Amino acid sequence: MTNQPNTEAVMAALRTVQEPELHKDLVTLNMIHDLQIDGETVSLTVMLTTPACPLKGKMEQDIRDALAPIPGVQNIHVRFDASIRSDNRITGQLQLPIKNIIAVASGKGGVGKSTVSVNLAVALAQTGAKVGLLDADITGPNIPQMLGVAKMPAPQNQKLIPAQAYGLQFMSMGFMLKPDQAAIWRGPMLHSAIRQLFTDVAWTDIDYMIVDLPPGTGDAQLSLAQSTPLTGAIIVSTPQDIALADARRGLTAFQQLQVPILGIVENMSYFIAPDTGNRYDIFGFGGAERAAKELSVPFLGRLPLDPRAREGSDQGTPIVVSAPDSEIARSFRDIAQQLAAQVSLLSFRPDPQLKII
Ligand SMILES: Nc1ncnc2c1ncn2[C@@H]1O[C@H](COP(=O)(O)OP(=O)(O)OP(=O)(O)O)[C@@H](O)[C@H]1O
Ligand SMILES: [Mg+2]
Repeated sequence: MTNQPNTEAVMAALRTVQEPELHKDLVTLNMIHDLQIDGETVSLTVMLTTPACPLKGKMEQDIRDALAPIPGVQNIHVRFDASIRSDNRITGQLQLPIKNIIAVASGKGGVGKSTVSVNLAVALAQTGAKVGLLDADITGPNIPQMLGVAKMPAPQNQKLIPAQAYGLQFMSMGFMLKPDQAAIWRGPMLHSAIRQLFTDVAWTDIDYMIVDLPPGTGDAQLSLAQSTPLTGAIIVSTPQDIALADARRGLTAFQQLQVPILGIVENMSYFIAPDTGNRYDIFGFGGAERAAKELSVPFLGRLPLDPRAREGSDQGTPIVVSAPDSEIARSFRDIAQQLAAQVSLLSFRPDPQLKII
């Protein structure tokens, strides 16, 4: 008879393997699925909390190192799959097929919220996640132009149908306004418009819904936070002190609304001259990272100034698609991974303010 390893020994070994970002073991996190022991062969699936997980290689090696010493184990097969976590508040309260809603905000206008929203959404979709993008900027909705889509599909069964581009489902306030119609909605009207963007649109199975907000800390932020349970907010800032002061205000506004801060992104951090390769810290360096530390919120990363980002936006092609090998595209992919990790972490963090329904 062969010396077949037993399930208890395998599970005990797997309890020694940590998820590198969540800092808990794979068994506690309920990430081990389809464990099979067949003679000398152990096979299992690791159910990641996001397909945007950069540390699969390390996890696989750690699993192999833990299982190899068990007597009788000769072959180890590790597969990966992903199931994005959610605190189920959105599916529970609003009955929407959306696992996580992430607001992209800033204290100040023009710092790159829409650029960050679009490119992060596409970068997340490129990892295999199902991503929605909602343009809730009532004052200047420009996501349709940035994605090169002029109008939304015809409604069906009294539901709006989201437009599609670059693997995203998206909807924009811009589709609902006539070109010369300045939106000056306030209070209840704004509130119901934002809510409709969630409830009246036929979204299908969204893992991450990215919401691009207008600048500031006003009505739209409040309406969004009141009409849907937000997973968290990202604050975009440029590195200057003055921009950071505004970012702090934006951050405080969300904290007062009991919306967790998923992190700060520093945009327009530096410029690399294409002719010489020299790097210029045009607005100073490291300001947002320092502010994040000071405020005890995660720093998600920095993005260079790259004229192609603006050209791409104007022409309807996000830079992560038009120049995937550029430094800015790489930074967007890194930030998308950091963001996904923060969302996963939140679903394990015992937060008394997070009401799980
Ligand atoms: N990293 C970057 N490199 C080059 N240009 C950029 C970068 N980020 C943003 N831009 C450009 O800066 C301008 C403002 O960016 P964007 O529209 O994304 O900002 P915003 O914060 O959404 O603005 P608003 O507050 O008006 O909504 C756009 O022309 C955009 O293409
Ligand atoms: Mg914008």
